[in-house]
Amino acid sequence: MIQGKWFAPGETLPDSILSVRRAVFGRGADSLDALSWNAVIFSDDVPCAAGRIWWEDGAFWLGDICVLAPYRGRRIGDLALRLLLFKAQDHSAREVRLRAPESVTGFFARLGLRPVSRDGDSVEMMIPGDQIDLDTCKNCTKANCPNRK
Ligand SMILES: CC(C)(COP(=O)(O)OP(=O)(O)OC[C@H]1O[C@@H](n2cnc3c(N)ncnc32)[C@H](O)[C@@H]1OP(=O)(O)O)[C@@H](O)C(=O)NCCC(=O)NCCS
Repeated sequence: MIQGKWFAPGETLPDSILSVRRAVFGRGADSLDALSWNAVIFSDDVPCAAGRIWWEDGAFWLGDICVLAPYRGRRIGDLALRLLLFKAQDHSAREVRLRAPESVTGFFARLGLRPVSRDGDSVEMMIPGDQIDLDTCKNCTKANCPNRK
């Protein structure tokens, strides 16, 4: 079973969760965690994905969104990103920003984030809060889906 869990700013992050960040980015806890909401996804109670959101300089920032390699391609990253965008909406975010390598901008573009600047391989992306759309059915082509009225 896939489950999501939130850790509030300042809450101690268990090492099992930091191990996901460490495995993907090679680093663990830092001073930003005290300011961030951390989202973690569990697959059958095993932490397999994470990401965080914090407020800085007039915008909500998303960062360190990661899925352990064996769990990729199962829409777990999509769930992590949607959780973070939902949190931004919940906080009435005026805009949401992130910095990501060029190779993953397509992943974020699917949910409406657009490149606003580049610094080497790092791309800054942004979506105005009022343009966040978490409707999973919108672009689905599945016929006869029970979700369709
Ligand atoms: C980017 C990452 C989070 C994606 O996680 P994932 O669980 O494999 O992605 P999902 O299975 O949820 O993919 C959802 C959709 O995004 C697409 N997608 C995934 N990675 C993509 C990429 N790099 N570029 C473009 N599209 C991508 C998938 O094809 C899928 O498309 P669909 O809706 O048409 O089926 C994961 O590859 C990762 O941890 N990468 C390393 C860390 C990183 O670079 N993080 C970003 C910096 S903040």
